[in-house]
Amino acid sequence: MSAVLALSGSPSPISRTASAAQATLALLEARGHTVDHIAVRELPAADLLGGNTAHPRIAGAQERIAQADGLIVATPIFKASYSGLLKSLLDLLPQKALAGKAVLPLATDGTPTHLLAVDYALRPVLSVLGARHIIEGTFLLDSAFTDRAAGSAHKHIPTPEAHTRLADALGSTPPTSSAPPKQLVVELPLEPHRAGRPAHDPRGSRVNHSVSWTHG
Ligand SMILES: Cc1cc2nc3c(=O)[nH]c(=O)nc-3n(C[C@H](O)[C@H](O)[C@H](O)COP(=O)(O)O)c2cc1C
Repeated sequence: MSAVLALSGSPSPISRTASAAQATLALLEARGHTVDHIAVRELPAADLLGGNTAHPRIAGAQERIAQADGLIVATPIFKASYSGLLKSLLDLLPQKALAGKAVLPLATDGTPTHLLAVDYALRPVLSVLGARHIIEGTFLLDSAFTDRAAGSAHKHIPTPEAHTRLADALGSTPPTSSAPPKQLVVELPLEPHRAGRPAHDPRGSRVNHSVSWTHG
């Protein structure tokens, strides 16, 4: 069993990004993995922006990241990049905080125009933090969400088609109830290259290769 943590970086209290991250975590939880979610907007803003890593909730977030075997790093696309809110937390992480972890980037965006922002903006940051197994980013347009009745935790929820794409992004994650092989806990697609794929392919995520998410 792996521990998977989602970081969602939207400032919105009703966030498509957080909803997509939560839906992805639910898929992993159904396979028996331990899941956790940090909505960065819920961390104390002044301490986050001031770099106060002594604050218990900032330190706690760092520790939850350190303990995770894998991360879902979820962001809305803002001004052709990932959100500043997400960056404010990533900037407080130790230099190689993501070493040895598998990372799935997940982005939501209003148009297909800036789909590559994950590749040219977020991926280098994940890489400098030590992540070596960065799965190909998954993108969901705003049209991939439907509104749910008021009162639910997430107003925007992924459509069934988007849900399928999130499941595809995880690859063939075996249910742990059927006793997974000792070293193979989760398999996720790994991007070897982007050859043969349109530069602005809004479908995002399917690739052929996989990497074992081996921390159990
Ligand atoms: C300030 C701001 C800037 C945005 N910039 C872009 C952009 O450059 N490209 C794009 O495709 N969508 C852009 N969007 C749309 C958001 O990426 C999109 O609505 C996203 O799903 C919002 O996620 P959230 O509901 O989790 O906040 C922007 C939205 C806002 C509020």
